[in-house]
Amino acid sequence: MPPSDQTRMLLVEDVPQVAQHVRALLTSQTSVKLLDVLADGSRVIAQAAELRPDVIIVDALLQGRIKAPEVIEQIRVSDLGTPVIVLTVPQQPVAVDPERGIHGVLTMPFSGYDLVTRVTQVHREFGAATQAGGSRVLSVFAPKGGVGKTTIALNLACAIGQLDLRTVLIDGSLQFGDLRALLKVPADAPSILDLPTDRIAESDLHDVLWRDPSGIDILLAPPRVEMAEMVTVRDLDKILSLLRRVYQAVIIDMSPALNDVNLAFLDASDTILEIVTYDVTTIHNTIAMADTFRAIGYPATKVRYLLNRADWAGGLNPDDLPRALGRTPEHHVVSDGRLVVQSNNDGVPFVLANPAAPISQDVMQVATEVMAAVRQPVGSGL
Ligand SMILES: Nc1ncnc2c1ncn2[C@@H]1O[C@H](COP(=O)(O)OP(=O)(O)O)[C@@H](O)[C@H]1O
Ligand SMILES: [Mg+2]
Repeated sequence: MPPSDQTRMLLVEDVPQVAQHVRALLTSQTSVKLLDVLADGSRVIAQAAELRPDVIIVDALLQGRIKAPEVIEQIRVSDLGTPVIVLTVPQQPVAVDPERGIHGVLTMPFSGYDLVTRVTQVHREFGAATQAGGSRVLSVFAPKGGVGKTTIALNLACAIGQLDLRTVLIDGSLQFGDLRALLKVPADAPSILDLPTDRIAESDLHDVLWRDPSGIDILLAPPRVEMAEMVTVRDLDKILSLLRRVYQAVIIDMSPALNDVNLAFLDASDTILEIVTYDVTTIHNTIAMADTFRAIGYPATKVRYLLNRADWAGGLNPDDLPRALGRTPEHHVVSDGRLVVQSNNDGVPFVLANPAAPISQDVMQVATEVMAAVRQPVGSGL
């Protein structure tokens, strides 16, 4: 059975005989892999963050400083997104209650068949439930530099994270990724190049993603310009499909070029959030890009325009922009030079530093709208 069909399980059990029994039941099968047995409830969150199990089994009678109910609650409120199966005895019945973080129950005594069936079933059902809203890939793009792609992508990712959606931001600007500098990430922090190319597993992500204090996970660009070439389109496709499985929102900060790598990002995107500004060259390039997208075969609904610095038309007639694009931008974000510069220098996204500011409110509205919009069935029109 290929590893992707395998359910990775963590057992929280302080009775050695029970742990040994579970181990024995799992020998000579490959559907469920026991990653580790933890006897101490206080280590569960840290270990689960490290091992990224698909399912965690917790013994209802767990003793020690942190007992079973607390462990289950900690897992529920964490951002692990891992379902829990409670192991119990007939004298102490436990009800399945996903609201309380209990996704399955196993009552002793159980057979190897019971164990494997329950673990794989909970893994599958929980995966289906979290996928119900779908995972969405959103690329922040413009055929032009300096229009606010990085600024919007970072703050949008934070705003989507605030909606309680598991969010990852990819620095897709592989040559001159700005996120490292913006977020004051150490130069030796791992990058997209540290993902093994042949066989990438979910567990590899943990070592490679930068967990930003802002709460989102970030896949950084290579640390040096010339290393960008080492990322192949094939790798990108694999990385994106893996991230889709783990995250509900995948945001990509892109560079302006239309090359193989960027086409891979755009192809994989459910929505292209294309930044426009009141600037004649930007508008010109945006129109040219719309023709290209049409030629590639992207439906018009795949692109949503975001008008950045929307409060200042820079001498242009504001009506010229929708006329030139042939449609009104779906989103807008106002200008706020002071706050943007300040938050960049502080390394704290402005949606977090000053959520009440009009620019932050605008980005939060975009977050709500894009996540709602992409949930609409394909072909639902503009
Ligand atoms: N809405 C905005 N208000 C004020 N300044 C902005 C806004 N959007 C972007 N900027 C500024 O514009 C410059 C370019 O933004 P950036 O996000 O780096 O663009 P890109 O990624 O498209 O090259 C940055 O100095 C940024 O601080
Ligand atoms: Mg940029």
